[in-house]
Amino acid sequence: MLITVKMAKFITVLSGKGGVGKTTTTINLGLAITRLGCQAIVIDGNLSSPNLTSHLGASYFPVTIHDVMQGLHPIQNSVYEHHTGLRIIPADLSIESMKLINFEKLREHLQDLHLLTEYVLIDGSPGLGRETAHLLNITDEVLIVLNPDHASLLDAKRLIEFVKKHGKTISGIIMTRHKKRSYKLRPEEIERFLGMPILHKVPDDVRFEKSLHKKTPYLHLYPSKKPSKVYYEVAKMLTGRVEPVKA
Ligand SMILES: Nc1ncnc2c1ncn2[C@@H]1O[C@H](COP(=O)(O)OP(=O)(O)O)[C@@H](O)[C@H]1O
Ligand SMILES: [Mg+2]
Repeated sequence: MLITVKMAKFITVLSGKGGVGKTTTTINLGLAITRLGCQAIVIDGNLSSPNLTSHLGASYFPVTIHDVMQGLHPIQNSVYEHHTGLRIIPADLSIESMKLINFEKLREHLQDLHLLTEYVLIDGSPGLGRETAHLLNITDEVLIVLNPDHASLLDAKRLIEFVKKHGKTISGIIMTRHKKRSYKLRPEEIERFLGMPILHKVPDDVRFEKSLHKKTPYLHLYPSKKPSKVYYEVAKMLTGRVEPVKA
């Protein structure tokens, strides 16, 4: 008898610079993939300064990714469902949790996710430090997020080199907070400097602040606005799916 084991794809969302939209991108992509009818789980992988759940509401969870790393619970116990249908694995927000980071164990426990989902989206940490290096070891592909400004661009260039040195595939570069202004970098300038195309551009939109205030992903609140359409496009590219499944 032939037994096939379905493998989940691990995609880590990274940026060279902090505050460019990693968490926003991870959450909205996770929800877009879910609404396309695929299984997705979003993990807070920004282990030293977690903030996935600050975008989604609750701050306390009985079991977190830090507990899983400590071997206190199987990873299945750390999966929670947001009211929008998004499945997440939160991190421990306490300062003590810094001592509980054990990447070797994490790698081991993440194996069980292959039984739970098709896609694992990891909200990564910014920069080229130890955490990013560990995340690269456990991921299949990387999505790089940047903003149209010089600091973000220079850091993205360094990150691309870092990811390549780790032998990982970059599935795309997403530019967030895109707006046409004389003082903003143009997409062509960014592409020329990076030597890579920008996969998608998410427009700058003040409603992202509202979605943060409502602790509800933009895509759920404003499904027909342009940024949601862009997130659906990225989700379609990652999954090969075509249309959202009707709720
Ligand atoms: N397309 C966008 N337009 C306007 N604001 C955005 C957009 N994407 C993200 N933001 C805002 O940028 C800020 C930083 O985003 P966040 O996802 O927390 O960044 P990171 O995880 O990289 O630190 C948040 O206030 C978020 O609402
Ligand atoms: Mg973040």
